[in-house]
Amino acid sequence: MVDQQRPRRSCLAVPGSSQKMIDKARTLPADQVFLDLEDACAPLAKPDARKTIVASLNEGGWGEKARVVRVNDWTTEWTYRDVTEVVEGAGANLDCIMLPKVQTPEQIHALDLLITQIEKTMGYEVGKIGIEAQIENALGLVNVDAIATASPRVETIIFGPADFMASINMKSLVVGEQPPGYDVGDAYHYILMRILMAARAHDKQAIDGPYLQIRDVDGYKRVAGRSAALGFDGKWVLHPGQIDAANEVFSPKQDDYDHAENILDAYSYFTSEAGGRRGAVMLGDEMIDEASRKMALVISGKGRAAGM
Ligand code: GLV
Ligand code: MG
Repeated sequence: MVDQQRPRRSCLAVPGSSQKMIDKARTLPADQVFLDLEDACAPLAKPDARKTIVASLNEGGWGEKARVVRVNDWTTEWTYRDVTEVVEGAGANLDCIMLPKVQTPEQIHALDLLITQIEKTMGYEVGKIGIEAQIENALGLVNVDAIATASPRVETIIFGPADFMASINMKSLVVGEQPPGYDVGDAYHYILMRILMAARAHDKQAIDGPYLQIRDVDGYKRVAGRSAALGFDGKWVLHPGQIDAANEVFSPKQDDYDHAENILDAYSYFTSEAGGRRGAVMLGDEMIDEASRKMALVISGKGRAAGM
């Protein structure tokens, strides 16, 4: 069984071709690390990077981090070798395969079949390796519900803003920031909401993609704050300097966490026999009911997962 609930506030991208960066990544406080065979890895470096990734996963030292490998998308000639070498070589020490530029549910299905074959051949537990699906173009977004449900292995739906902006001809070169000339709202709102709705409808995690201005931590916090406010579970980090920001932004604030716990305590007391079996009750000046309990459960669940 795949684990749909692992924490993914910070998802650190690491080029699979850099042993130095992989070694450093082990020591960093990111919830997830993904070793990249796609865009952060030059075409001629991919064969060696597969070997470096397999050895690094098998060496261990990753603590509680989710261990993910991003393979190349199905339109390239690299995908099957990426998946075969990585899953055959390190399937016992790997949590998920990330598939970029997913456009159709068949692409998820094909990956599921290939992983299943390898698991059976190698004697691994069948179905344990999850899939992370990156939505990076219009067709992927239009098909996002079918993509989310194409395999029980799917754990996350990820927004890939850089490729997405290029694919829809958005007139901007600064990933994550608003395109110049669009001054009537957030140009990403629909895309983020569409991905979030698919994730929530099908019980998957929603992950926001990269922010490329890696030295602008305030900018990172501002953009991450938007997707966190909507309900996203986490965001990519491209640089160690963004990790603390992601962990902070995607954890509840202490006041909100304490408030959520108070709501849960008050509501469970007042709806119990001893508290009078009431429906809506007062907590200070605030009226709380079953819907308040559900909202509080979200905040408290995120806080507990973050160790609050
Ligand atoms: C990530 O892969 C992106 O394209 O933003
Ligand atoms: Mg991309």
